Amino acid sequence: MKIYKKTADLQNALLELKKEGKKIGLVPTMGALHAGHLSLVKKCAAENDACVVSVFVNPTQFNNKTDLEKYPRTLENDVKLLGSANCSIVFAPSVDQIYPEPDTRVFDFGQLDKVMEGKFRPGHFNGVAQVVSRLFDIVKPDRAYFGEKDFQQLAIIREMVKKYGIPVEIVGCPIVRENDGMALSSRNMRLSANEREKAVLISQTLLKSCTFAPRKGVAELKQWVIDQINGEPILKVEYFDIVDGLTMQSINKWDDTDYPVGCITVYCGEEVRLIDNIKYKK
Ligand code: PAF
Repeated sequence: MKIYKKTADLQNALLELKKEGKKIGLVPTMGALHAGHLSLVKKCAAENDACVVSVFVNPTQFNNKTDLEKYPRTLENDVKLLGSANCSIVFAPSVDQIYPEPDTRVFDFGQLDKVMEGKFRPGHFNGVAQVVSRLFDIVKPDRAYFGEKDFQQLAIIREMVKKYGIPVEIVGCPIVRENDGMALSSRNMRLSANEREKAVLISQTLLKSCTFAPRKGVAELKQWVIDQINGEPILKVEYFDIVDGLTMQSINKWDDTDYPVGCITVYCGEEVRLIDNIKYKK
């Protein structure tokens, strides 16, 4: 496994592989890797000749300075984990390697980024689009792998690729959960033992809510989920919505879509913001 910190060095190495006709897969990450990331890396390595994993905490997608500062940075351990997950190349650039000039591009995703994460974290998806498009430009991968835990992010990246004609296949991968159902996230590292114990209520509630759909109406089910989770004093739902899984727009009745997905964000304690989602069957 090779590790590159400079864009030009990575590009030289990739040029050689491309000359040999090798297929390149990319897994963009912000590091603090866990089994969820490693599932993407393994899939990428199995489906491509070379698997590139980028580890870069992208400042332009954080609208909260404390969140950026506190984001876990564990490169040494990440490299160890990637070594055992068939990764071929780690790209761990500094900010100036990704943004030699400030990135002033503004992306237009219509209504897709006006709701949920886009509404509560203004500018977040523009920052994600900036860094992902920049990584696509540097690596020029044949395929790129993203987790479904960031469900709206995946929809935005698919839209970006379509709208801006970027020649890469986007592969979405299922959420990886702990044995108790909690979705894996780098932010889980910031939870105390007590918070972690309470946070499982999020996934448990989403799972249980599936047994009520479509018997309960959409509004009633949404309220039930919010009440269950807010019933635990350490947890505070920021939003829970049931949306069409392609357009991200709220539904009012189950019949409004063939692909209903419940998307939730919950604060656990004062600072740690957790997200999860669930696909409802009609
Ligand atoms: O999902 C993430 O970890 C980040 O948003 C991504 C896609 C790596 C861009 O920084």
